[in-house]
Amino acid sequence: MKLIRVENYEEMSSSAAQLVEQQILNNSHSVLGLATGSTPLGLYEQLIRGVSERGISWQHVQTLNLDEYCGLAEDHPNSYRHFMNEKLFRHIDIPLENTHIPDGKALPVEAECRRYEALVDRIGPPHLQILGMGTNGHIGFNEPGTPETSLTHCVQLETSTRNSNARFFSDRDEVPTHAITMGIQSILKSEQILVLASGKKKAQAVKRFLDGRVTKDFPASFLWKHNHVTLIVDQDAYSLAAAEEE
Ligand code: F6R
Repeated sequence: MKLIRVENYEEMSSSAAQLVEQQILNNSHSVLGLATGSTPLGLYEQLIRGVSERGISWQHVQTLNLDEYCGLAEDHPNSYRHFMNEKLFRHIDIPLENTHIPDGKALPVEAECRRYEALVDRIGPPHLQILGMGTNGHIGFNEPGTPETSLTHCVQLETSTRNSNARFFSDRDEVPTHAITMGIQSILKSEQILVLASGKKKAQAVKRFLDGRVTKDFPASFLWKHNHVTLIVDQDAYSLAAAEEE
């Protein structure tokens, strides 16, 4: 695992953007695995600037997002499809049909999970997968206890995850109880994985991740089984791991 330590959120975002843009420059038909949440917002802002200021073209790029809430239509303001359209896709030159996200309204949900996993295999797996990390070590919506062999599946969200995501909804009860997520095995299929962590609230998770013990109680630890993972952390997120070093 390669560790890149940076000062703050802005540096994390620009350092991640450099890696993503390098991937697109190396292969204009790259497949990128994308995440939602607060962590990649700065990265997406940088990538938008990359199109206008650095001439990066997404014309032939394909994207596969990790997850989507069950029950929310594409145009729901809290759907991850809506998030991605607003925060990235509509500001860059990617054809919308090249962007893929599980369909949270599709029924039966098991069939949608199988369709999405087949899509990951057909157009992917991603050359580069971006990941944020939950405070409980979740990646995608793979909560503690998720087996390493999991493919795209439907999950019941943990109370802690629903509480943490409630900040995006007007009422906590509106946070969906289920989501579709790529599984641990689906994520590990990627050629290269880029994990981003910023801020004090991620410090405990980063410390636990860096102890290197692989356990399904902490899903991000399965990333140690992959041989091309880069973690970019800022000072606050690294603070507890740093204290351990002393
Ligand atoms: C988002 C996702 C989640 C987030 C994680 C961290 O698509 O799959 O695993 O990456 O919950 O969220 P933030 O970035 O909001 O701290």
